[in-house]
Amino acid sequence: MNKKKVALLCGGRSGEHEVSLVSANAIAGALDRERYDVLIIAIDRQGKWWLGEHAIARMQKGEEPYGDPVHLLPEPGRQGLIRLTAQGWEEIPVQIFFPVLHGPNGEDGTIQGLLELANVPYVGCGVLASACGMDKGIMKMLFSQAGLSQVPYQVVQRLQWEKESSSVIETLEESIGYPLFVKPANMGSSVGISKASNRQALQEAFAEALLYDNKVVVEKGVEAREIEVSVLGNNEVSASIPGEIVPCNDFYDYTAKYIDDRSRLLIPAPLTQEESEALQQMAIQAFKAIDGTGLARVDFFMDKKNGQIWINEINTLPGFTSISMYPKLWQSSGLGYSDLLHRLIELAEERHQEKQTLLVKPSK
Ligand SMILES: Nc1ncnc2c1ncn2[C@@H]1O[C@H](COP(=O)(O)OP(=O)(O)O)[C@@H](O)[C@H]1O
Ligand SMILES: [Mg+2]
Repeated sequence: MNKKKVALLCGGRSGEHEVSLVSANAIAGALDRERYDVLIIAIDRQGKWWLGEHAIARMQKGEEPYGDPVHLLPEPGRQGLIRLTAQGWEEIPVQIFFPVLHGPNGEDGTIQGLLELANVPYVGCGVLASACGMDKGIMKMLFSQAGLSQVPYQVVQRLQWEKESSSVIETLEESIGYPLFVKPANMGSSVGISKASNRQALQEAFAEALLYDNKVVVEKGVEAREIEVSVLGNNEVSASIPGEIVPCNDFYDYTAKYIDDRSRLLIPAPLTQEESEALQQMAIQAFKAIDGTGLARVDFFMDKKNGQIWINEINTLPGFTSISMYPKLWQSSGLGYSDLLHRLIELAEERHQEKQTLLVKPSK
């Protein structure tokens, strides 16, 4: 059998650089080598692309050069990467790209835009869904349009905060009330997020969130369980069984996610059949609301007292290590890690093929 060449894109110019390298390592280890040849492209913190079998390990240790410098040109027909050589350049064939990049410059539609221009198949959501899933303000608008219930929230722009912070504070206190969660609109891994229980903490929370974005989302803080559902598919979408995160801190902050290993995952989440089904349905609705393709993990809050469900967010490139929630939920739903990767690649090819049949100019 002719093996397909899959290029994993990892690292990147993002706060989630390290997590991405760990996810990519796990994917490289689990891709079926009977079917696929795996190429590793580690993107450094400056945004340079390095190709090489050991690029991840070298980048993790800071050993330059990480591999051979390679480029993807934004023009169709190249069938892969370009490597500059002393004689000129050579093409390195790639059939499928697999972005394993979390956060800005990877999960937000930017890399997807480059892959679209190059007209190559790639795993996961397209430009629009990636961008909408990254921006918590836009995501919330689409969720509310789809009728999905969310905690009360407000979007505040930097200029508005700088010009009239006291009236912004008054409105937030009156219309939502403490505790409030303050988040940069475009981030991930809880970076820049704080919980504020009084006015001074709110001011500090704004200062922190504004370090990362010009747009801030402020939400009502709820006492809730955190439930997550994995979705998979293009036109026909399936949802996994729900899982639950039990954070070791006051909330699921950066430390609880990556540093302190006392947070627990409960798979399946202890829920009734009806609750599970409602969550699965909402997860699929959320995926469709952002026009998702391939994969996403949809995260919910469930009121600890009365069981009310709110959607929190969608992640179009969720953590993908072998112990991450996304693959573990599929594992427990009957789809193992390596089969899941194979299915994601098939979905990427299907979507690419479908797009090739569309006209790019008037038929007459
Ligand atoms: N409105 C809220 N009420 C209670 N906890 C929240 C709220 N918003 C966020 N959190 C806590 O902060 C964590 C990170 O917030 P989230 O919006 O999921 O950002 P990220 O995209 O960085 O994961 C959540 O997993 C949860 O623990
Ligand atoms: Mg989250």
